[in-house]
Amino acid sequence: MSTGQFDYTAAYARNIGWVTSSEQSILRSKRVAIAGLGGVGGSHLLTLTRLGIGAFTLADFDIFEIANFNRQAGAALSTLDRKKTDVLVERALDINPELDLKIFPEGIDRHNTDDFLAGADLYLDGLDFFALQARRAMFDVCTRLDIPAVTAAPLGMGVALLNFLPGGMSFEDYFQFEGHNEEEQLLRFLLGLSPAMLQGNYLVDPTAVRLAEHKGPSTSMACELCAGVAGTQVLKILLGRGKVITAPRGLQFDAYRNRLVQTWRPGGNQNPMQRLGLMVARRRLSQSLTTKSIPTHESAGTGTSVIHQILDLARWAPSGDNSQPWRFEVTDDLHAVIHGHDTRDHCVYDLRGHASQLSLGTLLETIAIAATRHGMQAHFQSRTGQADTHPVFDVEFEKNPDIKPDPLFPYIRQRTVQRRPLATRPLTTRARKQLEASTGSGFHVVWMETFRERFRMARLLFQNGGLRLTLPEAFETHRSVIQWDTDLSEDRIPAKAVGLDPMTMHLMRWAMVSWRRVDFLNRFMGGTLIPRFELDFLTGIACASHFIIMAPRPPETLDDLVSAGRAVQRFWLTATRLGLQLQPEMTPLIFHSYIRNKVDFSSNQHSLNLARKLATRLGEITAPEKIEHAVFMGRIGSGATATARSVRKPLDQLILQTRT
Ligand SMILES: Cc1cc2nc3c(=O)[nH]c(=O)nc-3n(C[C@H](O)[C@H](O)[C@H](O)COP(=O)(O)O)c2cc1C
Repeated sequence: MSTGQFDYTAAYARNIGWVTSSEQSILRSKRVAIAGLGGVGGSHLLTLTRLGIGAFTLADFDIFEIANFNRQAGAALSTLDRKKTDVLVERALDINPELDLKIFPEGIDRHNTDDFLAGADLYLDGLDFFALQARRAMFDVCTRLDIPAVTAAPLGMGVALLNFLPGGMSFEDYFQFEGHNEEEQLLRFLLGLSPAMLQGNYLVDPTAVRLAEHKGPSTSMACELCAGVAGTQVLKILLGRGKVITAPRGLQFDAYRNRLVQTWRPGGNQNPMQRLGLMVARRRLSQSLTTKSIPTHESAGTGTSVIHQILDLARWAPSGDNSQPWRFEVTDDLHAVIHGHDTRDHCVYDLRGHASQLSLGTLLETIAIAATRHGMQAHFQSRTGQADTHPVFDVEFEKNPDIKPDPLFPYIRQRTVQRRPLATRPLTTRARKQLEASTGSGFHVVWMETFRERFRMARLLFQNGGLRLTLPEAFETHRSVIQWDTDLSEDRIPAKAVGLDPMTMHLMRWAMVSWRRVDFLNRFMGGTLIPRFELDFLTGIACASHFIIMAPRPPETLDDLVSAGRAVQRFWLTATRLGLQLQPEMTPLIFHSYIRNKVDFSSNQHSLNLARKLATRLGEITAPEKIEHAVFMGRIGSGATATARSVRKPLDQLILQTRT
C-alpha cells in the first residue's frame, strides 16, 4: 500500500467501540509531546500513533546501541547507531503517514523546553530514569503552561503511574527535590513513583543497580506496560473521560507480583510514611554501597580473556561446605593449571580428601561445559608425583569449530543447593531418565522414592544428624563453616541457607559459641532434636526421592573421585535444567566409608559405635550389594530456588600468578 492509499478512518476503525467516532476525531486533532524515545518513549509513540493521535512533538539526542535491544521499541540490528528520532519517526509514519511531527533531534535543554511544549495538549514523560534535571524542567514548564503531564515508570516487571494535572499538585511539590544532592533526588524520585515499592523484593542481582553510573536494570515487559497504562491516561485526559488519578495519588501494577496498588501520599515526599521509607532506602543504599566496595561474587566482565571467562564461570562449581579447594593459573591463551588442595587437616568430613577430590571433579566438568560456549574442548591431565593433598591438573583448551554449546551451560550459575523441604510429587519418568543418562557411562542411579523408602532414609538421616551434632571433631567444622547474618556467603554457608527456622537458628548461634554449650544442650536439653527434626527428618520425607549415584567401581583413586565429581555435576545441572532442586546428603556416605576403611575419625567411642550401626543400616536400606560403589547421595524434588546461598570468592582471589 502506498502513502496515498492510507485512510485514517479505515486505519482506526477498530478503535471504535471503545471510543466513539467523534472521540476518534478529537484524538486525531491532539498533539502529544514526548521527550525521550528510548524504552518507554518509543513504545509511547507507537502506542499513541495506533490510538490515532494526529500530532507529536518528539525529542531525543541519542542513537540506538546494542544495550538498548532488551527493551527499546526502535532498537534492532537494522537501526544500530542510527538516531532514535529518525528511526521512530520512520516507524510512526509507516503507521500513519499523515502525522504532524515536530522533531527536536538534539534533545531538550533549559533553552528549548518552552518551544518543545508549545502547542502540546499533553506531555508524556519518556526521559531516562536518571535524567532528573531535564525532567524537572519539563514538568515545571507544564505547570506554568497548564499542560497535563503523565509519567509512567518501568519498575521491575511493572509500571508506576503519576499524573500531574493543571490546578493539581505539581511535580516539584510532590517529589520535594529542591536542596538535595543527586543521589537523594534519585531516591526521592524512586520512592515517590512507587511508594508501595512492589518491585523491591525480586531484584535478584542488586549489583545491577549502579546509581553513580546512572545504570539500572529494565525490562521490555515494564516498558510495554508503561505504554499501555500511559496510553489509557492520555485517552482519558484528552477526551475528559473516566476517573483520572492525580498526584498525590498514584498507581502501581506489578505483573511479577500479581499486584495492583493505589497509593495516596498527601504532601508527596513530605508525608511521614515517605520520610520513613526514604530513611530505610538511604540505609539500604549505604549498606549496599559498602558491600559493593568489597570485591563481590559478580562475574568478570566480557572484556577479560576467554580462559578467564571460563574460569570465572567454573568457580560456581559446588564444593563441600563451599570450600572451593582450587586455585587457578592461566599460563597462556589455551592453557591453564588447576591447583587443588583438600581440607583433611581441619575438616572431619574430608579426612581422606575424597570430598575435595569430588569437588575438583565438579570443577573440571564445569570448565569443560563452560569451554563449549567458546567453541572449545577442554582436556585435563592430572600431574603425577603430586602430594595426595595437593592434586594438580593441566588443562588444554582445544578450539574445535564442531563443538556446540553444552545445553547445561546456562545452568552453571543457576544451580544451587536447596536445604528446605521439597514437594513430594514423584519425578516424571522423563526426568528420571534424563537424570540417569546425565551421569555418563558406567555410573548408575539408585532411587528411594516411595513413602516407606523416604521414611527409612529420613530416620537414618535423623540418627546420622545425632552423630554429626554430637561429634566433638565436627564442632569446629560446623562452627567455622556457617556464616551468620548474611544471605550470601563468599567462602562459607550462610546460616539462612542451612534450612532452620529463625528461633532454632538463634539457639544454634548461641550454642555454636563453644563446645561446652553444645554439649550442655545435647546432654540436658535434647538440644539436637529440633535441628535434626527440621534439617534431617522433615526434609528426608519432604522430597520426591533420595538418590545415590553409583560408580563403576568403589572410588579409591584421585581419578575415580574426579570422574565421579564430573558425573555429579552433570546430574546436578541436569536437575536444575529440569527445574528440580537438590540437596546432597553426603555425611552418611562419608561415615560409611570411614567405617569400611577403618579410619579413626573420632576419639569418642560412642560416636564410633553409632557410626558402625548407621553404616550397616545404610547398606540395608539402599543398595546392600553395591553400597561401596556409592559416590554421591542426596534428595531431589520440585521447590523454590534458595534465595540465601553460598556464593564464591572473586576470581582474582582464586588466580595464582603465572610462574616465569
Ligand atoms: C562433595 C560435596 C559434598 C557436599 N555435601 C553436602 C552435604 O552433605 N549437605 C549439604 O547440605 N550440602 C552439601 N554440599 C553442598 C555444598 O555445601 C554447596 O554446594 C556449597 O556450599 C556451594 O553452594 P551452592 O551449591 O548453593 O552453590 C556438598 C557439595 C559437594 C560438592
